Amino acid sequence: MDKGAGLCYHHPVRSRQRSAETVRSCERSAEMVRSFECPAETVRSRQRSAEKKEPGVRLKKQERARLRELSATYLKDARVQSMRRYRQHGRTDTLRHVKNVTRISFWLNRRLHLGADEPTLVTGALLHDFYLYDWHNKEEARYGLHGFVHPRVACGKARRAFDIPDAAAGVIRTHMWPLTLRDMPRSREAWIVCLTDKAVSLQETLWGRLAMQRERTGRPHRRNRRR
Ligand SMILES: [Fe+2]
Ligand SMILES: [Fe+2]
Repeated sequence: MDKGAGLCYHHPVRSRQRSAETVRSCERSAEMVRSFECPAETVRSRQRSAEKKEPGVRLKKQERARLRELSATYLKDARVQSMRRYRQHGRTDTLRHVKNVTRISFWLNRRLHLGADEPTLVTGALLHDFYLYDWHNKEEARYGLHGFVHPRVACGKARRAFDIPDAAAGVIRTHMWPLTLRDMPRSREAWIVCLTDKAVSLQETLWGRLAMQRERTGRPHRRNRRR
């Protein structure tokens, strides 16, 4: 409710003529509606809105369940969760980035019937940037030029942390091709993650730059502008 303008979403048409007393009663009724909300429904609606905010693709209920099942082992690990501390592109942290790549890779595989092995695809996509440092920080990024070395660093750390199969290790090692010229993708899973990673990285970088530009100029997003 916008008290300053006398606007109320319960009475959108005549709201400008409403007295302060009516505005207060609307506030009370909105409070009552909130207090009667079913907690489970609230959680579900929050989950739905979070999914809507995620870029790109929408998965079916069974697909979401399958993806959760395949990624549960990794997502409950503290080292994987620590990836949210490191910035990846723009404002996206590394955990959010790998989740985006995983979801879109999974979706592409299902929708385009690419026939990739789902456990390998999800493991490779979730751990493809498991290098565990902030590559913007020169003291932490001591392995060499980040773009060239991080696939092998991530692969080594993922192998030490989890018992991953060779096929998933291959997905991680080759995801930066053609930058890593010798490490070329040699499986469907590796090609899917390699290409999806590039598209997602570009999108995250562009959105981050746009957000920063909007903040600098003080110009709100088109959707938030007042008419
Ligand atoms: Fe990467
Ligand atoms: Fe990546």
